[in-house]
Amino acid sequence: MHQAKLLDGRQAAAAVHERTRARVRKLRARGIEPAVVFFRVGDDPASELYVRRKEKQARELGIRSETVVLPAPSTERELLDRIEEKNRDPGIHGILVQMPLPQQIRAEAVCQAIHPAKDIDGFHPVNAGKLLLGDPSGFAPCTPAGICELFRHYGLVTSGAEVVILGRSNIVGKPLAALLLARGSQGDATVTVLHSQSRHIAEHCRRADFLIAAIGKAEFVRGSMIKPGAVVVDVGVTRLPLPSVPGKSRIVGDVHFSEAVRIAAWLTPNPGGVGPMTIAMLLANTVEAAERLAG
Ligand SMILES: NC(=O)c1ccc[n+]([C@@H]2O[C@H](COP(=O)([O-])OP(=O)(O)OC[C@H]3O[C@@H](n4cnc5c(N)ncnc54)[C@H](OP(=O)(O)O)[C@@H]3O)[C@@H](O)[C@H]2O)c1
Repeated sequence: MHQAKLLDGRQAAAAVHERTRARVRKLRARGIEPAVVFFRVGDDPASELYVRRKEKQARELGIRSETVVLPAPSTERELLDRIEEKNRDPGIHGILVQMPLPQQIRAEAVCQAIHPAKDIDGFHPVNAGKLLLGDPSGFAPCTPAGICELFRHYGLVTSGAEVVILGRSNIVGKPLAALLLARGSQGDATVTVLHSQSRHIAEHCRRADFLIAAIGKAEFVRGSMIKPGAVVVDVGVTRLPLPSVPGKSRIVGDVHFSEAVRIAAWLTPNPGGVGPMTIAMLLANTVEAAERLAG
């Protein structure tokens, strides 16, 4: 029976980390210690886990990290002031604010407060604009950049291909569309972006040579929506309770894995696909920021 090949994010991320490690060594030889600061507000357990993973990986690469935790009732002003301190700190090269934030803090205000040169998440309007204009001096958001790197690692070429992206968020769908639409061997795709108001979703998906699902709806993409031989990337992360073990949950992607694996040519495991690539690109961006700031 046909079985898709896996787009192994852990393996591809390890290759990115190897290159990042070499760049860290070069910076350190020049007396520069690349450093990143993570901000977290409140005690959301998932955010805590995500930041801990990033800290651990940074440490393994020789990147110094610090984490600032603000209490849940903190005001937007308090967070913006702390960000501004780090904008001005020459010893800090990258700044990340872990989302989601409590409702009294506007994510847009936070994204705009981070200096674009330290905006390793690539969410600042200046970096979003540069991405759209094809200006490589900005930072691309890490999940879309990680997906493109996954394709590059496995020699999958999007040039001329039909790419269908499910989801139009500012952190995944839209920047991914910009990257894959850009001129050049890593882009040059014909891109369709679908969202909650799109019609004929299954038909669009069935046309895709590359299908990327980023909507956060468990197992939304069924086997019947996939073109035989397509490349399928599952970005979605939905936590579903495990009825057999009270209090425990399991992570389910946007793609029905056991159906997709019989039809696609390439498929990301989930977990182990896009997640590790996102962290790898974040730390690569941190080192890039340190190199640029060092001149
Ligand atoms: N592994 C990773 O590193 C990583 C990173 C980022 C995100 N994620 C995961 O990826 C998923 C998407 O994240 P996000 O931040 O992009 O989500 P988001 O901001 O909630 O956006 C979801 C998008 O999906 C669209 N959508 C929702 N239901 C749909 C449906 N039934 N049919 C078609 N489109 C639909 C929405 O359309 P509208 O715009 O019309 O509302 C929206 O554009 C989440 O599960 C998230 O946890 C994973």
